[in-house]
Amino acid sequence: MTSKKKHIQSGKDEVPTMKGIRGQVLTFKADPFFHDEKDCYDFYPDGLVAVRDGKILDVGHFEETIRKHPGLTVTDTYEDCVIMPGFVDCHLHYVQSPMIGSYGDTLLNWLNTYTFPTEAKFKDKSFADMTAKMFFRQILSQGTTTANVFATTFAESVDAFFEESERYGTRMISGKVLQDRNLPDQLRDRSAEESVMASESLMTKWHGRGRQMYAVVPRFAPTSTDAQLRLAGELYRSHLDEGVYMHTHLDEAENEIEWVASLFPEAMSYTDVYRRFGLLGPRSVMAHCCLMEEAEWQMLHDHGCGVAHCPSSNLFLGDGQFKFWEAKDPARPCRTGIGTDVGGGTNFSVLRQLGEAYKVGMLQSQSLSALKGFYMATRGGAATLRLEDRIGSISPGNEADMAVIDLRPTEFAEWRLRFSESIFDKLFVLQTLGLDNTVKATYVGGRKVYDRDRDERFSYADKR
Ligand code: GUN
Ligand code: ZN
Repeated sequence: MTSKKKHIQSGKDEVPTMKGIRGQVLTFKADPFFHDEKDCYDFYPDGLVAVRDGKILDVGHFEETIRKHPGLTVTDTYEDCVIMPGFVDCHLHYVQSPMIGSYGDTLLNWLNTYTFPTEAKFKDKSFADMTAKMFFRQILSQGTTTANVFATTFAESVDAFFEESERYGTRMISGKVLQDRNLPDQLRDRSAEESVMASESLMTKWHGRGRQMYAVVPRFAPTSTDAQLRLAGELYRSHLDEGVYMHTHLDEAENEIEWVASLFPEAMSYTDVYRRFGLLGPRSVMAHCCLMEEAEWQMLHDHGCGVAHCPSSNLFLGDGQFKFWEAKDPARPCRTGIGTDVGGGTNFSVLRQLGEAYKVGMLQSQSLSALKGFYMATRGGAATLRLEDRIGSISPGNEADMAVIDLRPTEFAEWRLRFSESIFDKLFVLQTLGLDNTVKATYVGGRKVYDRDRDERFSYADKR
């Protein structure tokens, strides 16, 4: 690379309309669960990503690509780094950032002891603002550029989230959590009708404003009355064509499933509860799906739902174990992405989830390759959210959201990677080591919003 450095200009303050980012570039084109591995990705050992007006203009080998674009200025060059699509986190709770890592209990006790009291604090807009600010710094420093995020009951929690997302210009999905029974008074919706109307007015305010997208979010079946689930289903279906989502939890733990069966005796299964209320559809995203019956997978497939695999959360809470080979069964595949599920999950890093996902698979004698893992973390996550035509790969026309992975984040990692050959061997080592500083930079809409090695690490969209 050194002989070609005449193209490199650095230290420019203004952002040119067309700019180039140079380094090793990895991107995904097809699903490796169903296609030949070699057809699923492109890797350029000396690559160039050309960006214009927030979108990918071109990507390819450096020499070839720079020749095609005479006015292009290379603004950033990364040695020993891999530029890849920004990570997509398909399920997490920003409102649980203040209680991540709380000591021990299983799902339902953990919710009552730590989660609900914490979420009750989000009626206070300043608490929500403070948490949203910290949350975005965490996910951006881990290379996540799009996430499907639970807020909580209060409109304040939704506003705080989207306001911070707007400051960075990130593509995000969130919505008011609908929950009108079986939880403490301070957090509980008082009326099914009013709660769904409140959700609708937040949808009107935020859906399609810039890059923000709205989800109808019943927390999970046990915390909603029949009336609330029915109205949520109606709201979702009437706005599905506008790109509105439905986001909930499903089949995470044994006693949760028993509870659902006792609350909804008429349903054939937990998944069937959601189906009966019209909550399954192509923009429905179901978190966990650890303890599924075959008929439930078939139902999710038939409705085109996406699922989020949240391994660190499942291990931490001692839930069931997700079976990726069942989710991706070619006879009835389901779109599958990765979720950190903060604060059941133990960190904000999608990369680290891949390390955990590998271990969960191995507990069941199934190994998840780095290619499959990184696909799920990027393009597969985008497909789970039906956004693969906009994000999740570095391809012309897509939004220029990228993560720069450092291949020598520490002295030891640099030394260790000398003994690995292929890019996927190296990425596998990094996911397994799970170091906190693996991401060197994060780009949103072509702008660097996070730079690990800069004094001011984060910058909002209006700051150049
Ligand atoms: N099920 C219902 N609510 C939650 C939650 O906040 N976290 C997890 N992991 N599961 C849930
Ligand atoms: Zn969750």
